[in-house]
Amino acid sequence: MSDLNNKQILIGISGGIAAYKTAELVRLLIKKGANVRVCMTKAAVKFITPLTLQALTGNPVATDLLDPEAEAAMGHIELARWADLIMIAPATADLIARIAGGHADDLLTTICLATEAPLHIAPAMNRVMWDNPATQENCKNLQQRNITLHGPANGEQACGETGAGRMLEALELAKIIEAEFASQAKPLAGKTVLITAGPTREAIDPVRFISNRSSGKMGYAIAKAAKELGANVTLISGPVALEAPEGVHRELVESAKEMHRETLKQAKSADIFIATAAVSDYSPANVANQKIKKTEDKFSLALNYNPDILFDVSHAFPDLFSVGFAAETEDLIKHAQGKLKRKKLDMIVANPVGKDQGFDQDTNQVEVIWQGGHISLPEKDKAELAVEIMSIVSQQFNDK
Ligand SMILES: Cc1cc2nc3c(=O)[nH]c(=O)nc-3n(C[C@H](O)[C@H](O)[C@H](O)COP(=O)(O)O)c2cc1C
Repeated sequence: MSDLNNKQILIGISGGIAAYKTAELVRLLIKKGANVRVCMTKAAVKFITPLTLQALTGNPVATDLLDPEAEAAMGHIELARWADLIMIAPATADLIARIAGGHADDLLTTICLATEAPLHIAPAMNRVMWDNPATQENCKNLQQRNITLHGPANGEQACGETGAGRMLEALELAKIIEAEFASQAKPLAGKTVLITAGPTREAIDPVRFISNRSSGKMGYAIAKAAKELGANVTLISGPVALEAPEGVHRELVESAKEMHRETLKQAKSADIFIATAAVSDYSPANVANQKIKKTEDKFSLALNYNPDILFDVSHAFPDLFSVGFAAETEDLIKHAQGKLKRKKLDMIVANPVGKDQGFDQDTNQVEVIWQGGHISLPEKDKAELAVEIMSIVSQQFNDK
């Protein structure tokens, strides 16, 4: 699926010769699944008709700030809010000057001032106009305000001169817009996320084991959400009845010791570690080689403490962004905060567990806690919850 699918893109057109190329840009964006609306300056409609853009987008073209019909719905604010991204192509020297000066004297400049969407500008003008210190100064001003300029390119100009001032081609601008959405949607591109999931099984004899009710659903949903954010994902999973999410590398293990060994090995090349597995705290001190026979009325099993995977990984790799899960039956937040400190974690996701809560359920409710922050996510489907948790993880990871 294209990164432009269902994205809301506002194309601004000002009064330059290159305006005819923008019809092709609009067509390319629509072909990729974007919803496109167009706002034109008064000068722009002298170069290309709004009807062309209306026919291409299937939407009316906005041109007038003081349009009484559009104003009933606060036209300029509505468009400024509607856009996920604004691209002005072509941007004339005059429009650049007006945006630099913070003007709001027509619909397009007012939208630029009223929007919180990323603003991109493709200048197009005669080479002398482009080189003029006034234009250069205005462009610098825009860049300082995080407005992104693309081009202009060098080459033959409509006025017969040759130099810098040509608008980038429609295909180049479409690729720039697509890349912008791709990077927004994939904040973990190039990063490796290591996740443990499911229960562990601690053998008593060849046919019996100690385990717990973890289904692995939360960890598998986290793996899928991390993959969707562009990460390379390795999932170390105890025995569960789930398929590995598409594109996720899975290592199957059984016992806590196996999970410990595999996790420490994989952590060397990870950027983020998320421990969702319900690891058995204890395992039988001795594993019988043969099935244990029922010989006496009472039978006791000696248990040894298992290695603490999360503690060992976060201490062995202090630069790794480590996230723990805490399933608690009481004093949820107090226990989670204790675990955050004790295990030197960057974040902890705490969830209440008990009868019909947490384990082996399709829904969950969690508290996401980190040093200086806390977000409560109310009960919802584990898949939805995983997307929200991963969004918080990626934001905190990228801010660190
Ligand atoms: C035929 C013609 C072509 C023009 N081409 C450009 C151009 O490519 N770039 C530019 O900055 N101005 C160009 N102008 C000047 C702008 O149209 C003029 O500055 C206008 O006020 C811009 O209005 P706007 O920025 O609101 O669209 C051209 C003018 C004419 C008459």
